[in-house]
Amino acid sequence: MDKQRRILVTSALPYANGPLHLGHIIETIQTDIWVRAQKLFGNECRYVCADDTHGTPIMLRAKQEGMTPEELIAKIHQLHEADFQGFGIGFDNFGSTHTDDNRRMAEEIFGKLDAAGLISRKTIKQAFDEIEQMFLPDRFIKGTCPKCGADDQYGDNCEACGATYSPTELKHPKSVLSGTTPVERDSEHYFFDLPKIGDRLKTWLDQAEVQPSIKAKLNEWFESGLQSWDISRDAPYFGFEIPGAPGKFFYVWLDAPIGYIGSFIELARREGLSFDEFWSKDADTELVHFIGKDIAYFHTLFWPATLMGSGMRTPNAIHAHGFLTLNGEKMSKSRGTFIKAKTYLEHLDPEALRYYFAAKLGSGIDDIDLNLEDFRYRVNADLVGKVVNIASRCAGFIKKHFDGRLAAQLERPELHREMTDASAGIAQRYERREYSAAMREIMALADRANQYIDERKPWVLAKDEATRDEVQAICTDGINAFAVLMTYLSPVLPTLAAKAAEFLNIESLTWQGLDQPLLDHPVNKFKPMMQRVEESSLEALLEAAKQDAAEEAKTKAGADKNKPAAEKREIAPIAETIDIDQFAAVDLRIAKILEADHVEGADKLLRLSLDIGEEKPRQVFAGIKAAYDPATLVGRHTVMVANLAPRKMKFGLSEGMVLAAGSGGSDLHILSPDDGATPGTRVK
Ligand code: MSP
Ligand code: ZN
Repeated sequence: MDKQRRILVTSALPYANGPLHLGHIIETIQTDIWVRAQKLFGNECRYVCADDTHGTPIMLRAKQEGMTPEELIAKIHQLHEADFQGFGIGFDNFGSTHTDDNRRMAEEIFGKLDAAGLISRKTIKQAFDEIEQMFLPDRFIKGTCPKCGADDQYGDNCEACGATYSPTELKHPKSVLSGTTPVERDSEHYFFDLPKIGDRLKTWLDQAEVQPSIKAKLNEWFESGLQSWDISRDAPYFGFEIPGAPGKFFYVWLDAPIGYIGSFIELARREGLSFDEFWSKDADTELVHFIGKDIAYFHTLFWPATLMGSGMRTPNAIHAHGFLTLNGEKMSKSRGTFIKAKTYLEHLDPEALRYYFAAKLGSGIDDIDLNLEDFRYRVNADLVGKVVNIASRCAGFIKKHFDGRLAAQLERPELHREMTDASAGIAQRYERREYSAAMREIMALADRANQYIDERKPWVLAKDEATRDEVQAICTDGINAFAVLMTYLSPVLPTLAAKAAEFLNIESLTWQGLDQPLLDHPVNKFKPMMQRVEESSLEALLEAAKQDAAEEAKTKAGADKNKPAAEKREIAPIAETIDIDQFAAVDLRIAKILEADHVEGADKLLRLSLDIGEEKPRQVFAGIKAAYDPATLVGRHTVMVANLAPRKMKFGLSEGMVLAAGSGGSDLHILSPDDGATPGTRVK
């Protein structure tokens, strides 16, 4: 290998508002493999991470769970740490952004940005919830998209049409917290003047290692002109108060990446490392960040800007990955396909997933699918059927006939050379994060070793005294091939590699060891190293994930004071079977709500005026007053029964019925069709 490199590596800091799921895990596995590979090649590589503990969601989550934010983040830290450990993630330090070190760094960096003239103050209008007495982040406002009219969209972007906008443009905005319409209030905010260092950012981007697709996106942002970045938030907020600005806090995304430094400082203190060698302007340590593609903007724009603006070094590389899907679909809490790290660990071997992710990960940002059937097949065929199989088919003969001792010479040195000649190529694959290609090459070598054993048939030769010695030589070749393969796989499978080393009776598998086959060397008794992935375990995993989701829904409903606690989980009995004609007799139509008003003297009803494409709108009285603020209904599309016999009520004629789910009172949810359905369209 070349001259030793010194590298500091990070994974994105997971939010401390909930447990880790397999999406988080694919990122740390990708990073951990890279770090372990660097260490294997003899580089000085360190890996830090932390919990991202600040911001409104964490503050609210703590409130919901009846604890202080400090208590919540301490609890979550333990859970995260246990999960990461369970998956063999070898952090050199796993810290938190809520530490004195990080506060000091955040204050220091902010002070330097300010001194460099990069911070300005401006009074802006912000959405304010008068019931909760707080400013609302965009994500806590929902309403109708100003571009396409889709309902129930967040305050910053529309998931239906992809438009981005500010919450003030949203129609019928509602606070997610109180359900009331937010008002606008003035507030003074701190801004980071990004345009002032736009040129330096561009220079950085030109030489940094950033994937082409991300670079292209970034150049678009540059071309459309950089905006100042709002880096403050008002109390109540869980975070660091800005020095000299009571009631103003650093926005979580300012101090979160600084958490990389905060976590490093803890490590440096423990290991006596020099801060400047890692973080000063002329630091000669490589700085490499692994992230998901959703947070590229923060890492390729705000973060380097923060570093260069405060006179520090900048990152050498930002490596983004795509999103994990399950069986081809986005993981979803409501569908019960959201797999928590802990739930996986309760049912399956972490190394099986490490291998599968390695076999799927490339250097790009495409999404990665965990297909459970493919997962089972790949792990069983490759790891159990190919790699471990080599050792298991050779070990018995060595033990039985040769007292556990390998032969003094290789039978076929070309085979060993073929195996070890691949090392430079495989190292390069790891370096470039082309793990799937590396796994393919390693499995092709495993096939070669198995073919060799198949050809030489030691089980036949062993029957005859005269050919016994050949058996020892063949099995020595096989076991040495296994040693080489396991060395290659050791960044991916550290536990299996440790078991292999124990069987091989060596301290550990090393890169130098590749050139030194084990000869005339005693090996230990072979013990099964890896279990097959069984279909029943996968079924149990999915079942458990469903239960997790149900429990989550229950706690959420139970904690949300606006919704009745969902204690009774049984569903109402299914009604008697009908045939298709009976169903067709019910004429369901898409209806657009033109008007919605309170009804004088009715405590449950709202009067709706519904457009179903007829000349005159229909009037319907719906018992949804406790569940909906009429203003939020106007403009929505829903579904109505159009051929229900009209009913004369005290307040007027009701000409149909709007469909809703729920037990009544405030627990009622009217239906919404997907985008594109127009008034009057039949639902069938
Ligand atoms: N706290 C921020 C990161 C701050 S870094 C200074 C954050 N946290 S997160 O918990 O939402 O996500 C942590 C990492 O996990 C991100 O890199 C994110 O892209 C990644 N993933 C979260 N869900 C994912 C998938 N389903 N698939 C792959 N990675 C995903 O963002
Ligand atoms: Zn839209």
